[in-house]
Amino acid sequence: MPTAPQILAGLVWASGGKAPGLLEDIRTAVHPPVHQHAGRRAAYAWAAPGSAPREDQVRVGVVGCGYWGSKHVRVLQQIPVVSEVVVVDPRPERRAEFIPSASGITAFSDLTSALPRMDAAVIAVPPTEHSRIALQAIAAGKHVLVEKPMTTSTASAHRLIEEAAARDLTLMVGHTFEYNAAVWKLREVIESGELGEIYYIDTARLNLGMYQTDVNVLWDLAPHDISIINYLLGSGARSVHAWGARLADFSQEDVGGIRLNYGDRSVVAQVHVSWLDPCKVRRVTVVGSQKMAVYDDLVDQERLRIYDKSVAPVQDDVRNRPMSYRYGGISSPYIQMQEPLRVQDEHFIECILSGRRPRTDGESGLAVVQTLEAAALSLRRGTAILLDGQEAPAAKEAPTGKEAPTGKEAPTGKPALLSSTHLARKGASHKEVSRTTESTR
Ligand SMILES: NC(=O)c1ccc[n+]([C@@H]2O[C@H](COP(=O)([O-])OP(=O)(O)OC[C@H]3O[C@@H](n4cnc5c(N)ncnc54)[C@H](O)[C@@H]3O)[C@@H](O)[C@H]2O)c1
Repeated sequence: MPTAPQILAGLVWASGGKAPGLLEDIRTAVHPPVHQHAGRRAAYAWAAPGSAPREDQVRVGVVGCGYWGSKHVRVLQQIPVVSEVVVVDPRPERRAEFIPSASGITAFSDLTSALPRMDAAVIAVPPTEHSRIALQAIAAGKHVLVEKPMTTSTASAHRLIEEAAARDLTLMVGHTFEYNAAVWKLREVIESGELGEIYYIDTARLNLGMYQTDVNVLWDLAPHDISIINYLLGSGARSVHAWGARLADFSQEDVGGIRLNYGDRSVVAQVHVSWLDPCKVRRVTVVGSQKMAVYDDLVDQERLRIYDKSVAPVQDDVRNRPMSYRYGGISSPYIQMQEPLRVQDEHFIECILSGRRPRTDGESGLAVVQTLEAAALSLRRGTAILLDGQEAPAAKEAPTGKEAPTGKEAPTGKPALLSSTHLARKGASHKEVSRTTESTR
């Protein structure tokens, strides 16, 4: 059976050496600092009561085995250093699905019973349950990968980060698109300057369904787009202005959008999400002064296209049309694709074994949750919300559309302020958004 470093070396090879950031992370992970690795191995001695795992092997529990959790089960079973996958779901029909097909899988109806059989938990329950389940796993000494959105309030996101840090446990969030080679390539193209000055980013994530019961469409779908844009720009939004409509579902928004302002780079981003659209769309458009790029996640070939098109004002002849248009060709860089969920879950396991900080750590989960919480407040107030290093409102759990957040609001007529703690992303080559890192706890 290959060791963790061998698997990681294979992953580096599979990426064709084209994964910025991740590749660097993986290379470092193959040779982690000795003290980190030794520390994690030592931690295993107490973290695994009963049948202790073999060194460099991890037992993972997938908590919530519905649509997405079952995909985690599949990819985790393919990772050689994962010695056991256990499933946890209160629904017997969900548990039954795994038992006959996969030998070696043990199923539990609740997390408490499953805890002794796992070293780490992947949490894929409905979003409003994320923080409760994650806290239970962390309190039991388990490393945790929480699906997006990490939590449904900034307060609980802070709590997860603190509790995991206090126990030296890995906390990671499932921002799957940050493990997608097409998104890495798009960031590479932006950073190379090929597109020129970035004017705006537009994302569309539309389909007929799937309607969720505990969160609205913004909390369900926009985490992907916010994490993609934060990653592409290397920073977090400075202001948020959301809209939403309750159309087919009277209880929560099923169509909506968020306008994000990335102040330092003067970039505006527009996120459009819908459960009420006849066509499935998963598209990110980046418009620059020299070229434009479109990433379409639904096509197998040419996922990323660079359009050699631009528009510029005509300065020398006021009698002519005021703008000139340049129509060039379309190119599509070769991208070696690997299933992003598998790359993500391998990274989680690698971080557990090495003690390294995940690319999508608790802080990046928090940044997305803060943006969504600001969007929820914006939706309620109908105004833009600034994320400006101020004290965050103490929102109760789940300001998710069915109920408005109980945040501290700015006086009428002024934009409300939310803390943007940790919005600046680590390792970004762009100028980072300047904010304090005061905790709101
Ligand atoms: N990263 C991605 O691309 C991606 C894609 C889809 C969904 N998700 C996320 O995955 C999570 C699950 O979404 P889904 O579409 O699979 O939902 P789902 O409703 O299909 O599955 C949720 C499962 O959790 C189970 N569950 C509920 N409470 C539980 C508990 N206390 N303990 C154990 N199991 C419990 C339910 O029985 C159900 O089987 C959500 O947070 C969602 O946002 C992420």
